[in-house]
Amino acid sequence: MICCVFVLGLFSSALGRHLQEGNGLSLVWRLHGEPGDAEERHGLERRELSGRSAGLNEQTCTALRGVDSALQNSTSTFTFRVQSVGSLSLAWVGDGSGVLLVLTTFQVPLFLMRFGQSNLYRSEDYGKTFKDVTHVINHTFIQTEFGIAISPDHSGKVILTGDVSEFGGFRLFRSRDFGLTFEPTDLPFVPLIQMLYNPGDCNTLLTLSITLDLWLSEDFGATWRKIHNSVCLVRWGPRNSIYFTTNNNGSCNDKGMLDLKKTVDYGKTFHTIASRVYSFVLGGKFVFSSIMTGTGTERAIHVSVDGGEHWNIAQLPAVNHQQFYSILAANQDMIFMHVDDPGDSGVGTIYVSDDRGTVFSKSLERHLYTTTGSDTDFTAISSLKGVYMTSIRTDDGTIETVITYDQGAKWQPLRRPQNSDCDSETSTNRPNRCKLHIYASYSTAMKMNVPVLPLSQPNAVGLILAHGSVGESESALAPDVYVSDDGGYSWLQVLRGPHHYAILDSGGLLVAMEHTNSPINQIKFSTDEGQCWHTYNFTSDPFHFSGMDSEPGSRSMNVSLWGYRNDYTKWVVITVDFKKLLTRDCTETDYEEWLAHSADPSGSNDGCVMGYKETFLRLKKNSVCWNGRDFAVTKKQSPCPCSVSDYHCDFGYYRPENSSECVEQEEMLGRALEFCLNGTTEQLQTSGYRKIPGNQCEGGFQPDRKEVDLRRLCASDAFHPNSLVSFSLH
Ligand SMILES: *[C@@H]1O[C@H](CO)[C@@H](O)[C@H](O)[C@H]1NC(C)=O
Ligand SMILES: *[C@@H]1O[C@H](CO)[C@@H](O)[C@H](O)[C@H]1NC(C)=O
Ligand SMILES: *[C@@H]1O[C@H](CO)[C@@H](O)[C@H](O)[C@H]1NC(C)=O
Ligand SMILES: *[C@@H]1O[C@H](CO)[C@@H](O)[C@H](O)[C@H]1NC(C)=O
Ligand SMILES: *[C@@H]1O[C@H](CO)[C@@H](O)[C@H](O)[C@H]1NC(C)=O
Ligand SMILES: *[C@@H]1O[C@H](CO)[C@@H](O)[C@H](O)[C@H]1NC(C)=O
Ligand SMILES: *[C@@H]1O[C@H](CO)[C@@H](O)[C@H](O)[C@H]1NC(C)=O
Repeated sequence: MICCVFVLGLFSSALGRHLQEGNGLSLVWRLHGEPGDAEERHGLERRELSGRSAGLNEQTCTALRGVDSALQNSTSTFTFRVQSVGSLSLAWVGDGSGVLLVLTTFQVPLFLMRFGQSNLYRSEDYGKTFKDVTHVINHTFIQTEFGIAISPDHSGKVILTGDVSEFGGFRLFRSRDFGLTFEPTDLPFVPLIQMLYNPGDCNTLLTLSITLDLWLSEDFGATWRKIHNSVCLVRWGPRNSIYFTTNNNGSCNDKGMLDLKKTVDYGKTFHTIASRVYSFVLGGKFVFSSIMTGTGTERAIHVSVDGGEHWNIAQLPAVNHQQFYSILAANQDMIFMHVDDPGDSGVGTIYVSDDRGTVFSKSLERHLYTTTGSDTDFTAISSLKGVYMTSIRTDDGTIETVITYDQGAKWQPLRRPQNSDCDSETSTNRPNRCKLHIYASYSTAMKMNVPVLPLSQPNAVGLILAHGSVGESESALAPDVYVSDDGGYSWLQVLRGPHHYAILDSGGLLVAMEHTNSPINQIKFSTDEGQCWHTYNFTSDPFHFSGMDSEPGSRSMNVSLWGYRNDYTKWVVITVDFKKLLTRDCTETDYEEWLAHSADPSGSNDGCVMGYKETFLRLKKNSVCWNGRDFAVTKKQSPCPCSVSDYHCDFGYYRPENSSECVEQEEMLGRALEFCLNGTTEQLQTSGYRKIPGNQCEGGFQPDRKEVDLRRLCASDAFHPNSLVSFSLH
């Protein structure tokens, strides 16, 4: 898995995101840099230790004993010497292998033609020590854009795309043994994009050449064959299928004129599954394609649940060239779709689909999605099902965070954390407007002081870490760190000022580093889901911290801190292994039952979301022990009777703010709700409710709903879009 790119450089790019600025030196994500020799300094640094509590609840926290002696021997330092300007990419290979590859690249700007040098380093111990293994790729230059391609199946396959222009081409370096050895293979074309692994069979690779030819290899890059020309965009689909758009007239900029094609036999045969295509997306079980309606510049979304054999027009407003659609999230049940409002307003509407992806209903209005940067705060919370957060722009122009706990049926503001207050003006005069606001992609795009996005992990049940502030809306001041341990219902301010943070040991350990321009030497950590924080001085020689990294999946106990000292020619990585601190394995008595989504413990339907209750076994806050790498989430489910909250508002209906009832949209009053499904017109007879896809409730509230086939033919064929009515309301 590719983790991240840190850059030690004096210049930045539009792509880059500033992590830190100081002394005229900026650290930017994704940029170019310069290599050098590695210098091993393992164990040379004197370490200072402390177990002082640093949390905001210091009075109630007791210092952890033995932090110093525990971590003293578990801190490793390694230095990469770079010549001047350097970029550094990290990639974890495998899962639990401890193998980390680091590529440092020096690249001169493109107008001087490709030229540069790369160095490859390899760690087998979670980043504690590295070996310079540049010789295994014969000192070949690897362009930063191609980076390190790791197979998604954790089998240890690695591909580096080397630039050997001096010999007239590109050379792959292919490894099947976690980057220990590499086999060189000359490519018969010049690649345009990184190699794409077939997620179903990582021996099969796809890529595009700079002449827009589509190339395929079935033997992990050893031999290649050209399977199509004039290809604009290509994606792997399920079961070895390949979807791509092609242009007939030579230009991929001619959007709305592309053909969408598919092959299921690795390019032996092709089917054109849609034409006049603007763009396509694969998500969950759905294929989406936005197709010109034939009436001017408008396009409409077509959806297929059978891989493009049959299409239906999604019941969504058509958009023109200035507007856009964006699929915010897709799972096996349903999708969240943003449809941009007309004009350059930077807001739109979120629609949620039924399980066919065809009938949509309004979920959230005034949803913030900037047209310039394409930034949205939409965040799927992976630590609890059904929970999503995003931001809206209110009528008076302020930015507010809203959350849904039931897959978009109902959205609400976040509650004010008990331990933080609004300014006195708001507290006194508008107490109900005193809310928590979370800072995500929009804030980072606005160059606010937010070093990392909200964080949640499926194996750390209920836990969310995020930057935020309390007030009427997002404020420009530096945000603080907030934690929720119940999937976003309640929040606690836990660290003051911006921090980098990571979840280790499936949530049993949280770590944080202050985001500051000054050199630092302290890491903060918490064993109780962020209530109390302790500090550890990992070095006596503070450094400029630029980023934190641990193995993906949050099961590790090792965290690497990347940065540099005043000498810009050295990258320093300091790795702390917390295993020595949590020496005891957790046992049964360290866990307690927790009912998810519990808001009213006295109610019989407490915790019912998506039609069932879920009870998890969670680590007790006061347990200081190790969940372990093999920790598995344990949960029990029981069904719930249906209530109004198990339903999305149906097509043509919406939920007014603060209401659980669905009411008919004004513009639809008195109109028949008709749509085209599988080529015949269907009439929807609804009392306004449609069960949320994936909802498992039984009995209870069962509103009437029927789709009546009017036996009137209609067109939902992606080949004859001219006859389509884009939004079939009659
Ligand atoms: C740890 O470092 C901080 C400065 O970063 C310093 O104030 C503190 O005294 C140090 N603690 C110990 C025990 O050395
Ligand atoms: C630290 O490591 C040294 C040698 O590696 C060992 O002798 C010593 O006992 C260790 N100390 C602790 C506290 O683990
Ligand atoms: C390594 O690269 C050099 C040129 O830089 C080339 O002459 C040599 O053949 C390469 N060796 C291998 C094993 O590819
Ligand atoms: C391609 O160009 C021809 C004329 O050069 C035009 O008639 C045709 O519509 C174009 N097709 C597409 C898909 O743009
Ligand atoms: C931390 O790193 C060490 C190697 O230095 C490794 O043995 C250990 O398994 C890692 N711990 C975890 C929990 O991944
Ligand atoms: C919704 O409820 C909140 C808080 O109770 C209130 O401030 C707001 O005005 C209500 N909105 C509407 C449209 O009634
Ligand atoms: C529409 O077509 C799909 C795919 O062929 C099929 O699964 C579905 O049952 C059809 N629906 C109706 C209402 O005929």
